[in-house]
Amino acid sequence: MTNTPPKRGLARNTANYGDKDFALYLRRSFAKSMGYSQAMLDKPVVGIVDTGSDYNNCHRTVPELVEAVKRGVLAAGGLPLAFPTVSLCEPSLFPTSMHYRNLAAIDTEAMLTAQPMDSAVLIGGCDKTVPAQLMAAASANVPAVQLVTGPMLATPFQGERLAACTDCRRYWAAYRAGTVSPERIGQIEGRLATTAGTCGVMGTASTMACISEALGMTPLGHGSIPAVHADRLRAAEEAGALAVRLIENPIRPSDIITEHSVENAVRVLLALGGSTNALIHLTAVAGRLGIKIDLHRLNVLSDSTPVLVDLKPTGEGYMEDFHSAGGMQALLWELRDLLHMDCIDVTGVSLRERLTKPEFVDRRYIKAFDEPVTPVGGIVALFGSLAPRGAILKRSAATPSLFETEARVLVFDGLEDLANRIDDPDLDVVAGDIMVLKNAGSLTPAGMPEAGYLPIPSKLARAGVKDMVRMSDCRMSGTAFGTIVLHITPEAAAGGPLGLIETGDRVRLSVKDRSLDLLVDEAVLAERRKTWSPPAKPGRGWDRIIADQVLQADEGCDLAVMRPAAE
Ligand code: FES
Repeated sequence: MTNTPPKRGLARNTANYGDKDFALYLRRSFAKSMGYSQAMLDKPVVGIVDTGSDYNNCHRTVPELVEAVKRGVLAAGGLPLAFPTVSLCEPSLFPTSMHYRNLAAIDTEAMLTAQPMDSAVLIGGCDKTVPAQLMAAASANVPAVQLVTGPMLATPFQGERLAACTDCRRYWAAYRAGTVSPERIGQIEGRLATTAGTCGVMGTASTMACISEALGMTPLGHGSIPAVHADRLRAAEEAGALAVRLIENPIRPSDIITEHSVENAVRVLLALGGSTNALIHLTAVAGRLGIKIDLHRLNVLSDSTPVLVDLKPTGEGYMEDFHSAGGMQALLWELRDLLHMDCIDVTGVSLRERLTKPEFVDRRYIKAFDEPVTPVGGIVALFGSLAPRGAILKRSAATPSLFETEARVLVFDGLEDLANRIDDPDLDVVAGDIMVLKNAGSLTPAGMPEAGYLPIPSKLARAGVKDMVRMSDCRMSGTAFGTIVLHITPEAAAGGPLGLIETGDRVRLSVKDRSLDLLVDEAVLAERRKTWSPPAKPGRGWDRIIADQVLQADEGCDLAVMRPAAE
C-alpha cells in the first residue's frame, strides 16, 4: 500500500466534476492563464483576504498591505493568492455595519474553505471586519494570521489633538448644547480623521485588534502599530512569512482560541477599558468553537482586573500613544499574574515564553498594576427583572454618582420615535429621569445600531446636563461615554420584559448589586403581555435570514445556523 501525500496548494479542494485529476488539470490550465509558472503553481498557497474597498476609509491602506503580505509569502517560499470578501465600514452602511457582520463572516468562511489554500492572512481593521474574520477562521479552522490595518494618527488642531471618534461625539454634543457654532463644527469635520486607519481611540476596532493579540491570532506587538507607520508594512510582510511557516507546522485557530485564551482576552478587554461591542464579538468568536462567555464570570473577572490603559474615550491618550507607550507587550506584562500563560499564539510559542519585560513603558498611558486607572475592570454585567439574561454597563465611561439610581423612565419605542421626540421642547423629561430605548435590538430592522448613546434632550443639554442614565437593547460605539446600559437581553423584539416597559414606570439600577429591575407588578406586566406581539418579519433576503436566525447578545448575535453543529 502506498502512502498518498496530503493534498496541498492548488491540489486542495478540487472542483467536483466526478474526475479529480481532470479537475486539477483544468484548475492549473486556468491558473496558467494568469502567467504563473509551473514552479509557482507547485508551491503551498497562502490565501490573503483583501477587504480593500472605496467605501471603507479605514481600509485605505489594504492594497499596500496585500503587496507587503505577498512579499513575505514569496520570500518564505509560498504562493500568495489574494481574494476579495465583503468589506464593512462603520459609517457607510445602512442600517448598521453590525447587521452585516455575520454576512462578512459567512463570506469569509466560505472562501477560506472552498478555495484551495494551506493557510491564510486575514486583513481587517474597521469595527466589524476583524470579528467577522476571526469568526470565519474559527469555523473554517484554517491556519490563519490576523493582520489589522492599524489606527489612524491624531491631528494637532488649535492646541489640542483630534481623532475619530470620541472627539466627533464630544464636539457634536457641544454643538447640540449650543456651545460650538455651526461654522466651527463644519471646520472640525475636516480635522477628525486626517490619516488612513481605524478610529484613533480605544474604540471597537482598536479593542478588537488588542483582543486578537490577546487571543494569539495576531503576533504580539502588531495590533497597535499606526496604519501609516512603515512598521505596519513590515508587520504585513512578517504575517505573510508566518502564514507560510503555519503550513509546515500547522497551528489552527482551534489550537489558539481556547477557554484559557478567551479568558485572557476578557481580562485584556477589561484592563483596556475597551469597547462593550468587543464583548459581543468575542462571545461570537468563542462561540464558533463552543466556548461560552458567562456574564456572571465576567463580573468575577471585572472585580479582579484593574483598568490600566488611559486612552479616550475614558482617558486622555490616543492609540499612537498606547503603541509608543509599550502596547500590548506592556499591558500583558502588567497583567501576567492574572493570565493563563500556557496559551500559544500563531507562532506556536506560549505566552510565558514570548512575553518579556518591556524596556520602556510610558506610564501616562499604561499604568502599573499597583497604580491603576481604576482598581476594577471597565465593564460589568447587570441582571434582574428587566434583563433576565443580562445587560452591560461600561462603568469606566459612566458617572459614578448615577451608579445607584431609581427613577421614572421615559420610553422611546424605536429609533424613529427617538428622532421625532428627543428635541421636542415640550418633552416631559427631567435630568433625573432614566431614558429607555426599546425595539432596537438585533432582531429588529434597526439591526442593533450604536444608538445606546441616546442624546441628552437638547433642552437639558442646553441647561448643562452632561449625563443621564440611558438604557436599551442596542449597542454603543466603543468611542462613546456616559451612564449607559446596553444589550438588555432578551431584547424587546424577542419578547423580553423591555418590550413591556412604558413611560412612567420606575426602574432601579444598582451597579453595586449588579442589578437592573423593572419595578412594575407582575400582574400589570401580564396584562401588557396580552397585547404584545413580535415585530413582523421582512419578507425575504438577508434581513429575513437575520430575523429568523440571529441570536441574542449573550450569544454574540451570531446566526444560529453558523454555531458548531453539535449544539
Ligand atoms: Fe472604521 Fe471607526 S469607522 S474603525
